[in-house]
Amino acid sequence: MRSLLSDLISQRLTGLSDTPTGTLNKRVYQALQQAIFDGSIAPGSRLPASRDLAKELDISRNTVLAAYDQLQAEGYIQTRSGSGTFVTSDLPEDGVITDKTARYFAPVRSHVVLSERGTRLLTRTGVASQQWGAFMPGVPDVTKFPHEIWRKLQNRLSRRLHPEFLTYSRHGGCPQLQHALADYLRVARSVDCTADQILITTGTHQALDLLAKMLCDPGDTAWIEEPSYWGIRNVLTINGVDIQPVPVDDSGMAPPENMPENSLNNPVPKLICVTPSHHYPLGSVMSLARRQKILAMASELGSWIVEDDYDSEFRYSGSPIPALQGLSSDAPVIYIGTFSKTLYPAMRISYMVLPRPLASRLKIAHSELYRGGNGLTQLTLAEFIREGHYAAHIRKMRLIYGKRRNTLTRMIEQELGPEYLCEDSNAGLHLILSLPDSIDDVALSAELEQLKILTRPLSAYYLRPAPRRGLLLGYGCVPEEEIETAFGHIVECLRRRLFSAGTTEP
Ligand SMILES: Cc1ncc(COP(=O)(O)O)c(C=O)c1O
Repeated sequence: MRSLLSDLISQRLTGLSDTPTGTLNKRVYQALQQAIFDGSIAPGSRLPASRDLAKELDISRNTVLAAYDQLQAEGYIQTRSGSGTFVTSDLPEDGVITDKTARYFAPVRSHVVLSERGTRLLTRTGVASQQWGAFMPGVPDVTKFPHEIWRKLQNRLSRRLHPEFLTYSRHGGCPQLQHALADYLRVARSVDCTADQILITTGTHQALDLLAKMLCDPGDTAWIEEPSYWGIRNVLTINGVDIQPVPVDDSGMAPPENMPENSLNNPVPKLICVTPSHHYPLGSVMSLARRQKILAMASELGSWIVEDDYDSEFRYSGSPIPALQGLSSDAPVIYIGTFSKTLYPAMRISYMVLPRPLASRLKIAHSELYRGGNGLTQLTLAEFIREGHYAAHIRKMRLIYGKRRNTLTRMIEQELGPEYLCEDSNAGLHLILSLPDSIDDVALSAELEQLKILTRPLSAYYLRPAPRRGLLLGYGCVPEEEIETAFGHIVECLRRRLFSAGTTEP
């Protein structure tokens, strides 16, 4: 049987067969060099013995030896006596060792032309390169996930798994999960729903992508909160939806006083995207009056309200805030929930509760566009909820996060003063450290990143010039005992900047 490497080299040799550069020695050399260069053969990996590779490629051993010699002379590979030939482990990141290599590959690189919308997306990226550590916002403590319980459930279920669960998903996801979720949402979130309204998606981003594609045409308008989650902006924009920022105050999104008349300058929104139970990122709760106003507006204008209920399970004081969706029957509300915060983000399971007239249409569209899968994970999750483990995990995590939040709040008050704490509704996985106007939150956040302290600048969440500065500090993934030291770095950098800006030291 041929090795994977010889399959790869043989395919590359075919690709190089019409290059005028000639000899087989040179083509084998080029094929190997290219594969090392583009990472197909990883740094540090072992190459087959020349005799074996020659046999598998059906070429002479001298040809392989000549290619290996050339690669060794150029520093791509190294021979260790007694152990074999290895790809150099500390190749430069771009793989460029000689001018010759750069010339060889340059034409391919310069031909990358992205679409206009793709290019625009890359100028507004939001994903942080590191996702774990103090004070990464929006990330829960994934180390507390009850793997043992999950494993037992999954083992049990996989023993008598119907083949259907391992095929493409239809009907909007695993029916057991749809039922478990409907029962949970009615009680825990006051969502008015039955299982047939639930569509399981691979994260909130996919849910929004489907809504943008199925409910909006390019050029249609969506209202989004100002400030708002960057993911919503990116998904809508790449689908050609024109996003209109609507200011948020202490009562949530504040839509215009008068109904917009549909005109070129003032188009009626197809979607109104809100986080009413816990505004992201400021943390306010949408008041009842605002909820009623937005519901009335949406009904009048024929818009869909998209309710992103991403972390409402974590509220540390007061009574739970019911979902907007349950406020009136037949409300034009699409409710989105996710397991990214309650369990862990890499699970990539979220869901939509769809108004009945939309449900079957969007389920068909979902399987046409994304196919769907994860049957066993969804089934395990259904059982995890049904047996009460989900509610127990939330209860446990609520206590842990509540303590972490208190510790961080106390540190801010002690070290900087209460004016540095942004008023919010005591919920979620992050809080906002308010900063004076003299402090550039983007620069401060970048400086902290150099010290491996992960924060997000508040101003980056605004589409228009930000009226205030701050840092989003996630406490979900920071053990209590690490909060003080990590926060100390923030205080140090901030004091230095306040001093340079001539602002009174806190
Ligand atoms: C407001 C808001 N909605 C949705 C999400 C993403 O959810 P998901 O992981 O389900 O895509 C996030 C993630 O941080 C968020 O902050």
